Amino acid sequence: MRITSDYLVLGSGVSGLTYALEASKHGSVIVVTKRAIAESNTNYAQGGVAAVMDPDDSFEDHAADTLRVGYGLSKPDIVQLVVEGGPSAIQELVERGASFDPSEEDDGLDLTREGGHNKRRVVHAGDITGREIQRVLVEAVRQTPNITVYEDHMAVDLIELSKYGGPHQVAGAYVLEEAKGEVHTFVSRVTVLATGGAGKVYLYTSNPDVATGDGVAMAYRAGALIANMEFFQFHPTCLYHPKAKSFLISEALRGEGGILRLANGDAFMARHHEMKDLAPRDVVARTIDYEMKRTGADCVYLDMTHEDADFLAKRFPNIHAQCLEYGIDMTKEPIPVVPAAHYMCGGVVVDSNGKTKIEGLYAIGEVTCSGLHGANRLASNSLLEGLVYAKRTAAATRNLGQGRFADVPEWDSGSAAASDEAVVVTQNWDEIRRFMWNYVGIVRSDRRLRRAARRVALLKDEIREYYWEHLVTRDLLELRNIADVAEMIIACASTRHESRGLHYTIDYPEPREDYAKDTLIVHGEPPHLSGR
Ligand code: SIN
Repeated sequence: MRITSDYLVLGSGVSGLTYALEASKHGSVIVVTKRAIAESNTNYAQGGVAAVMDPDDSFEDHAADTLRVGYGLSKPDIVQLVVEGGPSAIQELVERGASFDPSEEDDGLDLTREGGHNKRRVVHAGDITGREIQRVLVEAVRQTPNITVYEDHMAVDLIELSKYGGPHQVAGAYVLEEAKGEVHTFVSRVTVLATGGAGKVYLYTSNPDVATGDGVAMAYRAGALIANMEFFQFHPTCLYHPKAKSFLISEALRGEGGILRLANGDAFMARHHEMKDLAPRDVVARTIDYEMKRTGADCVYLDMTHEDADFLAKRFPNIHAQCLEYGIDMTKEPIPVVPAAHYMCGGVVVDSNGKTKIEGLYAIGEVTCSGLHGANRLASNSLLEGLVYAKRTAAATRNLGQGRFADVPEWDSGSAAASDEAVVVTQNWDEIRRFMWNYVGIVRSDRRLRRAARRVALLKDEIREYYWEHLVTRDLLELRNIADVAEMIIACASTRHESRGLHYTIDYPEPREDYAKDTLIVHGEPPHLSGR
C-alpha cells in the first residue's frame, strides 16, 4: 500500500508530537509510532525541563552550566538558542494544559535542582514530568484533523532515492504494519526522525523497550552524517531490585538533598567532587562504578531519610509509591541504586533548524547530535531541546510540504520466508547488550573495544543474512538497529584516544586538546575527528 502525506514524522515523543502539531498548520501530517502513541522515552522522563524562569537566574548561567558539562564539545551558538527558547516552551505547554508544580513562595512554578546545575531551574510535574507533557501533546494531536497517527507501525528503512538512481534525498519510509506483517510505502515531501534514543543497546538501561536507536540506525544506513556516538550517558541512579525493570530514581532526589552512601554509610561523593552528590552525571556514574568495583558491592544507596516524610511523599509520589511496591520505604531506609544507560548524546548531525545532510530528511531530539550536549548532557536539557528544535524545524519546513511526490518503488519482500528460528534474534540481542555493557560501558579500554568490534562485526554478518532471508518482524528490525548503533558507538569510541565527558578509557585517562572535536561517522567509512 502507498500512503502519502506532506510531512512524515517517525516517533511520538515530545519532539515528534510538538513538530506534528506545528507542521499540521501547513499541510497533512502522518505520525508513525512503534507501539501506542504515549509509549516514548518522554513518557518516562521524571526530572523535568530546564528553563530560566527565576529572576535570579539568567540565560548566561544556564548556558554556562550546559557548556561546562559538555566538556568543550557543546556549540555555544546552539546552547544559546536552546536556553533562550526555554521560557516560551514552558509557557506553550502551560497553555496546552500542562500542570507543573506551583511555587510555594510566589505565583510562579516550583523549580528544582539537578546535577551540574548551579541554580534551581528545573520545571517539573511532581516526578512524572514527561508523562504530563506527553499527555497534553497526545490530547492536542488527537484533536488535530490534519494529523493521522499510525500506532503499532515501525519504520523499516528510509526511502533514500540515490539507491534507485535518483538524488541523495529522502522521500519517506518503508513501514511495517505489525499486525498484518505487511510493509507499506509512506511517501512524503518532508521526513522527520523523532525516534529518540537507544538505551536498549546496553544490558541495563533506564529506557523503555522502544528505545532501540531506530532513527539513528536508519539515517546511518541511508548515508547521513552521524556524530559523537561514543558519548552515551549513564544515569547514576536506577532502582536496584530483582523485580524492577528500568525504574529511574530521579536526580531531583539529590537536588532535594539526597546523599549517596555505601552500605557502611560512607557518603563517598564528598571524596570525589566539590559538588558532591550534585556533580555532573558522568562523574557520579563513574564514581559509583568505581566504588562498586572497589568494594565488590552490587549497588550503592541513595539516602533521603533525613528529609521530612510528608515532603518526600508529596514531592516524589511516583518514586515513593513504586519503591513501596518493592518493599522499600524511602522515608525510612536508603534506596538501593545502580547506574544504567540513559541517554544518547551523539546522533544524526543537524543544523540549527533540524536539517540533516540529506535532502528531505530532518531530525529532532535524542536521535540528533545538534551541538547542545557535547560530550555530556546537562540534566533536564533534553525535553527542552526537543521542544525548541521541534518548533524551529517546523518553521524551517513550513514551505516544503508542497510540490510533487517522488516516484519511489514499492517494498519488495523478494523470496523472504517467515522465520522458523526466532532464537537467532533473541540470542544476538542478548549478546550485543551484554558485551556493550561489559566492554563499551562506563569504563572502556582499547582491548575491550577491540573485543567488542570483533563481536559486532560477526553478529552483523549473521543479522544481515537473516534479514535478507526472512520476512521482517519488529524484533528483527530492532535487532538490526541496535547492531548498527553498537557498531557506531564502538567505532567512535575507538577513535577517541582521550577521556572526555561520558567517554572514559583507562588507556587514555585524561582529556587532550587536539581531541576537542566531534567524532564524525558515515556508513562504510571509518570515523574521523573534525570541527563542524
Ligand atoms: C532524572 O530525573 O534524573 C532524569 C532527568 C534527565 O535525564 O534529564
